[in-house]
Amino acid sequence: MNLLIKNGDLVNPGKPKLNGKLDLLVKQGKIAKIGENLKAGKGCQVIDATRQYVFPGLVDLHVHLREPGHEYKEDIASGTKAAARGGFTTINCMPNTEPPIDNRSVVEFVREVAKASGVIRVVTTACITKGRAGKELVEMADLYEAGVRTLSDDGDMVEDAHLMRRALEYAGMFPLTIISHAEVAGLSRGGDMNEGFVSTKLGLKGIPAAAEEIAVARDIRLAELAKARLHLAHLSTTGSIELLRTAQKRGLPITGEVTPHHFTLTDEETVGYDTSTKVNPPLRERQDVLACVRGIEDGTISCIATDHAPHAGFEKEREYSRAPFGISGLETAVSLAFTELHLKHKIPLATIIAALTINPARILALDIGTLAENGPASLTIFDPNLKWRVEPSAFLSKGKSTPFAGRELTGRVSSTIYNGRLVYQFD
Ligand code: DOR
Repeated sequence: MNLLIKNGDLVNPGKPKLNGKLDLLVKQGKIAKIGENLKAGKGCQVIDATRQYVFPGLVDLHVHLREPGHEYKEDIASGTKAAARGGFTTINCMPNTEPPIDNRSVVEFVREVAKASGVIRVVTTACITKGRAGKELVEMADLYEAGVRTLSDDGDMVEDAHLMRRALEYAGMFPLTIISHAEVAGLSRGGDMNEGFVSTKLGLKGIPAAAEEIAVARDIRLAELAKARLHLAHLSTTGSIELLRTAQKRGLPITGEVTPHHFTLTDEETVGYDTSTKVNPPLRERQDVLACVRGIEDGTISCIATDHAPHAGFEKEREYSRAPFGISGLETAVSLAFTELHLKHKIPLATIIAALTINPARILALDIGTLAENGPASLTIFDPNLKWRVEPSAFLSKGKSTPFAGRELTGRVSSTIYNGRLVYQFD
């Protein structure tokens, strides 16, 4: 079906001339034309985007889809529907599934299921080590041939520094990008939340900022030694972001991401022991939240990623120390970015949208994340005037646990279009 998106305000990273009030004509899944006052031909569906923004389809670098193995928490069908509702048209899933995504056949399984039951594009990160066991490297060449471009043992750090060094060295040859889950387990083990005043007050065991920062420092140094690219997942502390900033100033090809919960919330949210606030890395302190915001603003942090980590209700509804880590993040991310980063902290929308499109696309080695004639018609229409309250029972994700329940946000995805198909529309 042909589509005409009229009167929208394009925020289009990577294409400075194709920004502002422009119409888009979509034909056969591609953008046929971008211009002023385009006319709808016969049988063309028109979407009126007056007073709304049009973004390239959002890209999420860090999603736990749980399939195979934990479909009771999420599956590819439900996860991609949730992503479409959140404005995403490409998501990258993490390999801590059961079995882990550590070989070609599991990669192909995910791809086939995504083709059959997914409503948007799914790509996958594969493990760094077989079985995520931290002992033996995966078959990188085979995974590269199968289309994989990033590797991570996300959920756990590769503790053996020698193995991590080799992983970085070999990965650079293909090239594959290593995504580091930076957490020294010896310091974080048994912890429930950020270590600080609040954890002491609540009597919960803390995870110190140093657990992340030591790991970030190690992995930056190893990437330098291996002359490799590195991406740092879910950074949460002032110290980590400063380490990344310094590494980038020295010219190292290292990137980083932060999540909406880390640029919005502090560990004060944990008062009341609500397990929806339990996440790894944990919610930190005010200065860390501000460091995340400043990192996005000055470009040190080039990507916003959800770390969407759905769990079943019965798992989260336990006492704090027994509940699993993870927040359902896909359906609130872009509204949080708009409300917190743009409206509150005045970060330009172009910077925010680049961090949700072209920048993560580059890390995934995908040529997407921008709107251009003859390019794929994957785009997100966002109504900045709509105020709404987060209602987890309305989530399309099976994971309903969010610390943002009941919070009023400004701005909401009104339509998501993937390859010319309307995959979500707000009603
Ligand atoms: O909160 C988290 N949940 N952090 C992680 O690193 C893993 C994730 C999960 O898989 O549940």
